[in-house]
Amino acid sequence: MSLYQATASAPVNIACIKYWGKRDTKLILPTNSSLSVTLDQDHLRSTTTSRADPSFSEDKLWLNGKLDEIKPGGRLWTCISEMKRMRKEVEDQKPNEPKLSAMHVHICSHNNFPTAAGLASSASGFAALVSSLAALYKLPASPSTLSLIARQGSGSACRSLFGGFVAWEMGSSPDGSDSLAVEVAPRDHWPEIHALICVVSDDKKGTSSTSGMQRTVETSALLQHRIKHVVPERMRAISAAIKEKNFDAFARITMQDSNQFHAVALDTDPPIFYMNDVSRAIIALVTEYNRVSVEAGGKLKAAYTYDAGPNAVIYTPQENVKEIVDMVVKYFPQAQPFKDPFGLFKGAGVQGGVVE
Ligand code: ADP
Ligand code: DP6
Ligand code: CO
Repeated sequence: MSLYQATASAPVNIACIKYWGKRDTKLILPTNSSLSVTLDQDHLRSTTTSRADPSFSEDKLWLNGKLDEIKPGGRLWTCISEMKRMRKEVEDQKPNEPKLSAMHVHICSHNNFPTAAGLASSASGFAALVSSLAALYKLPASPSTLSLIARQGSGSACRSLFGGFVAWEMGSSPDGSDSLAVEVAPRDHWPEIHALICVVSDDKKGTSSTSGMQRTVETSALLQHRIKHVVPERMRAISAAIKEKNFDAFARITMQDSNQFHAVALDTDPPIFYMNDVSRAIIALVTEYNRVSVEAGGKLKAAYTYDAGPNAVIYTPQENVKEIVDMVVKYFPQAQPFKDPFGLFKGAGVQGGVVE
């Protein structure tokens, strides 16, 4: 008897231009385009195994060892159904292929980092889910095609189908067929850029991204300004900065966009606070670090960005990594770097962090 099983792993991505707001909540179509960096180290990944078997009586998914509900019409259900539909097309063309699309699947996924804590677990999670089913079903689908399906699991997931620098183009079609991820530049175009992750808290966030952004769409006037008058120009400018490897411009736009995203969260009624005092202290530290460089006639050396949670991601060229790690350890004395060469932070304030 054959065993139909495949495993895939996907990394998180951390946005420089933030996705925040849906124009269609069912298809997950965003109110603005976004752009991110996919982290290529092993510390923040989801690994998912999918198995199809004629003896299974229903689709099931275990997340970190716990059975998750697959609600009909829900996000997991939509992704699994779309993948089965694509498998059916393959089977219709190749009648000798086993009829996997008619079998139920059991899916087992594990995140090697905190889930739902603002470290983009929904991004790596749904990217790994779609990738494992694509491998199981042997689909000849491109990353952009798979991104259309991952998007319907969690918007940010579509960007994790690519490595490197990735844009999610919002598209304009009502059916979502042009709302997909595209590569802006591969990772090896700009290998000097590193991401330093400071885990300020690994608690589950109080307001999920999904409910938070919906409330913002319904109540924030600032969001309307952002999507019409700010993001389109920033998308152009940051894409150019990446192509030109202009870190100063990349850093400036990344920090501005993180700040505006959190301003939009604050402009929501009732307001949403994702950052805490430690997050703000890290902003102050990076700001001061950059100020000293600029005053000495240099350029920006680091860029902070925060997703929907208190944890900092600091983008910086490799040449500054050691200096920044030393600085964080100095100002957060209980932080413990533990991973060579530059480390993971552990301890009060900054509880953990990795450098890629
Ligand atoms: P985060 O900031 O971690 O992305 P979100 O609120 O956006 O937080 O999403 C968290 C949700 O994403 C989880 O509650 C779960 O439903 C889903 N998720 C996380 N990891 C996985 C995974 N590996 N496989 C499937 N779904 C996942
Ligand atoms: C702040 O993709 O998690 O990380 O589509 O509802 O699942 P859903 O939301 P999600 O939102 C991510 C928001 C963000 C910014 C970003 O990743 O672009
Ligand atoms: Co998420």
